Amino acid sequence: MKRILSGIKPSGDMNIGGYGGALHQFVKLQHDYECFFFVPDLHAVTVQQDPKELHQRSRDIAAFYVAAGVDPKKATIFLQSQVPAHAELGWLMETQAHFGELSRMTQFKEKSDGKDIVSSALFTYPVLMAADILVYQATHVPVGEDQKQHLELTRDLAMRFNSRFGTTFVIPEPIIQDTGSRIMGLDDPSKKMSKSNPIRNSYVLLLDSPDDIRKKFARAVTDSEMNVRYDWDQKPAVSNLIEIYSVFSGDPLPTIEKRYEGQGYGAFKKDLAEIVVEKLIPIQDHYKQLVHSEELNRILKEGAARAAEIADHTLLSAKRAMGFVTFEG
Ligand code: TYM
Repeated sequence: MKRILSGIKPSGDMNIGGYGGALHQFVKLQHDYECFFFVPDLHAVTVQQDPKELHQRSRDIAAFYVAAGVDPKKATIFLQSQVPAHAELGWLMETQAHFGELSRMTQFKEKSDGKDIVSSALFTYPVLMAADILVYQATHVPVGEDQKQHLELTRDLAMRFNSRFGTTFVIPEPIIQDTGSRIMGLDDPSKKMSKSNPIRNSYVLLLDSPDDIRKKFARAVTDSEMNVRYDWDQKPAVSNLIEIYSVFSGDPLPTIEKRYEGQGYGAFKKDLAEIVVEKLIPIQDHYKQLVHSEELNRILKEGAARAAEIADHTLLSAKRAMGFVTFEG
């Protein structure tokens, strides 16, 4: 059985980077895998969060999953903090992780760089992420390029645990798609599109108005060549826009290049904005219906109960393997 676990952190307003690298994949993959899509709220609090904002954003992410097309009858949708086995397995896995390997995590280095105070949870963040994945015995994990190193650590920890205590965990594989796994800022194609960037024109939010989306794409940097060609080395800004176009339209990259051959950037950027608007409007409408609804509460409660059944089972195996006294089952 092929099983997926993945999630998007509720640490900022959701943008089209997370849509391209993750959510858009979730919708496609739900037909071929048993899926668990969760909201990693325990990961969000590794940096200080305003409690009201955390609360709202956690509901937002869950609502976006459903609004974008994840079917709660097919996939299990839940909040990480409602399945205690994540945190408990996280602690057990911390006993297997090495200080040195965690110090080498590039996301930790980026997020802690220049900060006076860094929580110890930010340092052990990737171990909790490993526990998220291993506790479901996930075979596959769809993520954007920036999570690749965390996936490698997850595999290392699982193999280390299995060789010390006997086979307990499935070794998961990442799924990193060719297009959309690394969406860059609209103002600067050398920086990942990120919800924490203070420059508002660098990202498009899933809840941006059509006018804002049009303005942001109109202002997106390109180059002086006036040629819609996909070439990351020579034309990173335009290549980034072509990838966004491909994610939102479903058209392959060469089809897009061909469509705008000899036309410059004006028509291309205008069409791109319309394609994104067209895709996001129904998602926004569905999101608004869901976000404060009883239906969302029900999806999350049922999801947590289903998730906990599997997670508790794996946790028990891991505890037994390590020698803890257990009385269940
Ligand atoms: P997060 O919340 O930063 O991002 C969620 C997902 O979106 C992808 N992503 C992007 N993909 C392409 N271009 C971008 N600009 C972009 N920005 C974000 C990320 O790669 C990710 O797949 N640590 C994870 C959350 C997490 C998790 C897990 C994921 C916790 N436990 C277990 C998978 C499995 C994170 O911070 O993602």
